[in-house]
Amino acid sequence: MIQISLIHSDAFLRLYLISLLLVIFPDLSSAGNEGFREQFIKNYKTFQFKAQEELIREKGAEIMPGEMRALIDEAMADNKGFNRRMYLLDIASAMASGYQHWHGGGEDLIKEIETLIKTELKLEEQRVARLMKWRKEERFLGNFVMKEHMANMKKAGVAPVIYPHWVHRIWFECKVCHQDIFIMNRWRTHISHANMEAGKQCGVCHDGKMAFGVDDECDRCHLAGKNEAERLHHADKVDHARIKKVADNLGAEWNYDKLSGKKLPVDRFGFIDWLKLKKMGVFKPIHSLQEDFNHEVRDNKILFKSKGKLKNVLFDHKVHSSWINCTSCHPEVFRKTLTNDVKMVRMAKGRFCGYCHGRVSFTFADCNRCHSQEKGTNESGAMLHIGAVGK
Ligand code: HEC
Ligand code: HEC
Ligand code: HEC
Ligand code: HEC
Ligand code: HEC
Ligand code: HEC
Repeated sequence: MIQISLIHSDAFLRLYLISLLLVIFPDLSSAGNEGFREQFIKNYKTFQFKAQEELIREKGAEIMPGEMRALIDEAMADNKGFNRRMYLLDIASAMASGYQHWHGGGEDLIKEIETLIKTELKLEEQRVARLMKWRKEERFLGNFVMKEHMANMKKAGVAPVIYPHWVHRIWFECKVCHQDIFIMNRWRTHISHANMEAGKQCGVCHDGKMAFGVDDECDRCHLAGKNEAERLHHADKVDHARIKKVADNLGAEWNYDKLSGKKLPVDRFGFIDWLKLKKMGVFKPIHSLQEDFNHEVRDNKILFKSKGKLKNVLFDHKVHSSWINCTSCHPEVFRKTLTNDVKMVRMAKGRFCGYCHGRVSFTFADCNRCHSQEKGTNESGAMLHIGAVGK
């Protein structure tokens, strides 16, 4: 689950996977001696020791020194990604060992390659750590690090954006933003300053009146990786007074004095427990930015009978539709019937209940929060989920 959402959320990881694919293909780009290199790689990858020995003894003395140098130069060229680079260095290293074994000499080269490999591994470790740092900022449930326009942001000298989804949830119900302002799916809205300055996307509110504008205080949004970001992803560093002040101005509520020790309640997976917050009367978001707003709620429950050992699942239309627009779920996530083919495997891929749970609402790991109804009882008078007809 977690892995899926990370891949989904991380363009870098996607590039990483693409470069992994490249490893499979032998290098055909170098000029001259391709025959030798190709044969060497083939023997090396298929453990043909005898054939390799023959190749090295017959042609090696002449070709190998130049070939090893070419491999190193190619590996270290600027346009090479980590995996490609490691692949080429690995071939160079194998060649250097073979050369030393059958022709003697070349210790310096072996050392040089070893050092290069070590340095590259360290750089890669640092690069991954940098990405993981953003992960940390995302992990606190409902933060999105936005970096679709990474190259442009780099050029302008600003950090990627942290969009604190959870903070906005305190002030605004889902309906305020979804689907009118943002599609309920990451990377789909293609947020840009041109759009924001035209009063769309974040610019609907970040207009310099309701909230700070998109053309000032760059660092309040572009703060991924900075220390100031801690209040957005560290449960103990949340700035309650500021959240309350904004809530008061908007007509929302943030009664953080009701929190014991000013601590946000989190479940055992570290996700904010929104229902507890609601029950404790800590927060009350606004329904709409408009005065005349049709607050449509569907007041019934749907029982999903469990076919396994776990208890049944009760879906509360009222809880969900009091926050979420009908059109956020219907028809994209569920058809308006009782016959959707809901399955855990599909949910884990972000469909059905998994459209929100595990992304911005409590995670699937918490089985009993959904599988909470004793079997054989239906005291709630709920409608029965039917499932795919004919299955
Ligand atoms: C202030 C605006 C705002 C509010 C309020 C809000 N969202 Fe979002 N939501 C966003 C933005 C922005 C995105 C990202 C869109 C993009 O990247 O294109 C998003 C994305 C999502 C996603 C997609 C996550 C993913 O991993 O693809 C889900 C699900 C979601 N929101 C659910 C909710 C729910 C449920 C609520 C209410 C409890 C809610 N949102 C309240 C602004 C908001
Ligand atoms: C429905 C209105 C609304 C939308 C849409 C909205 N915001 Fe906000 N946002 C606010 C308000 C109100 C504040 C509080 C401003 C303040 O502290 O003065 C805020 C605060 C913030 C903060 C500061 C949080 C903190 O504690 O420092 C960030 C960062 C932020 N928004 C980013 C964004 C981004 C990025 C988007 C678009 C993806 C966005 N917001 C969309 C209303 C909105
Ligand atoms: C209200 C939040 C907010 C503020 C304030 C803000 N930005 Fe952005 N900015 C964003 C978001 C959201 C994106 C899109 C991020 C992505 O997914 O690539 C973005 C993207 C960018 C980009 C690349 C794409 C584009 O549309 O140009 C640049 C450059 C940029 N911002 C610079 C700035 C500068 C400079 C400032 C201060 C003058 C600033 N931003 C203030 C939210 C903000
Ligand atoms: C969080 C997602 C979600 C939201 C929001 C939501 N629904 Fe549903 N809806 C469901 C699910 C889940 C089912 C049951 C699907 C199944 O059993 O296959 C359902 C079933 C239905 C059905 C058929 C069963 C019944 O209740 O009669 C209707 C009609 C329906 N929804 C209408 C609405 C309307 C109207 C709203 C807005 C007021 C709404 N829904 C909001 C998830 C949602
Ligand atoms: C569009 C987003 C969305 C979808 C789809 C969705 N949920 Fe939820 N659900 C929420 C939000 C938001 C909450 C509030 C708690 C939170 O955010 O952690 C919630 C709370 C719950 C709760 C606790 C409240 C209660 O009713 O006691 C249960 C149980 C639950 N969801 C089950 C489901 C099931 C089962 C499905 C699929 C049939 C589903 N949800 C689909 C957004 C969604
Ligand atoms: C967000 C709510 C939710 C959570 C959390 C959840 N489930 Fe489910 N689960 C459902 C729904 C809805 C069904 C559909 C029931 C049906 O088969 O009609 C289901 C069905 C199942 C089934 C029946 C087979 C299938 O694939 O449909 C199994 C087994 C299951 N869940 C196991 C688990 C386990 C184990 C966990 C915890 C790791 C878990 N569930 C967490 C909502 C949830």
